[in-house]
Amino acid sequence: MHMKSVIFVCYPLFNVALCTIPGHYRIVGGHEASINEYPYQASIQFFGRHACGGSILTDRFILTAAHCFEEDYPSKVTVRVGSSRRNSGGAVYDVDKIYIHPNFSDVTYDCDVALTRLKKPLVFGPSVKNVALPSKGTIVADGLVAKASGWGQLFDEGPMSEMLQAVELPVISKDNCEIFYGHTVVSDNMFCAGYSFGGKDTCLGDSGGPLVVSGILVGITSWGGVCAAPRNPGVYTNVPAMTKYIQSIISA
Ligand code: ARG
Repeated sequence: MHMKSVIFVCYPLFNVALCTIPGHYRIVGGHEASINEYPYQASIQFFGRHACGGSILTDRFILTAAHCFEEDYPSKVTVRVGSSRRNSGGAVYDVDKIYIHPNFSDVTYDCDVALTRLKKPLVFGPSVKNVALPSKGTIVADGLVAKASGWGQLFDEGPMSEMLQAVELPVISKDNCEIFYGHTVVSDNMFCAGYSFGGKDTCLGDSGGPLVVSGILVGITSWGGVCAAPRNPGVYTNVPAMTKYIQSIISA
């Protein structure tokens, strides 16, 4: 991929501390988190194994990423909720239908959004809650700090985490992100978040999971370069841009 050479500059918005790469990685710069702090976090599992993250929208619908599904074959898909652990605890629900955005492209990852409908309604509780959707037209503004969470890899090519991890990632302007990835690659249905110097990021296995600002779901983990590497911010589906589609599915 063509990349313009960029000198390692810290954006004026970020302070100096944020421009250093931490000496060690914990879920790519994050920290262990309890499901009670992220009760909307779900694990989408194929044949009982974690594949992607998801976000609880209602007692019947989990939001996730379209690229998580090669085909919409619900019988192999289950959803674990209410557990800080990837492989145990909480409750596991069967899926009876998968909805993939009709404009999703597996080449560009544009419109990387999907929903799974559960066979039985979720039982809500302190560790199982829905997250609010943004109203249409909400702007995911540069510099907003979003909370990303998931069980994805702890560093690039590393193992997935058994315990839920969370990390705070500032939204990067589209102009800056296009310097890293090229302007045809980052569509208006995406935004970037992370640090120009790397150190904190989502990674493989976090896809489909939530990015939340002030209790509102703004992003879905979608793609990125080398996890937590400099000039490789994560790219997220812009949830406000997808609200109309999401509403049409959950209110049908
Ligand atoms: N596509 C990945 C997944 O399926 C998530 C990639 C996020 N990568 C990143 N560098 N932020 O889990």
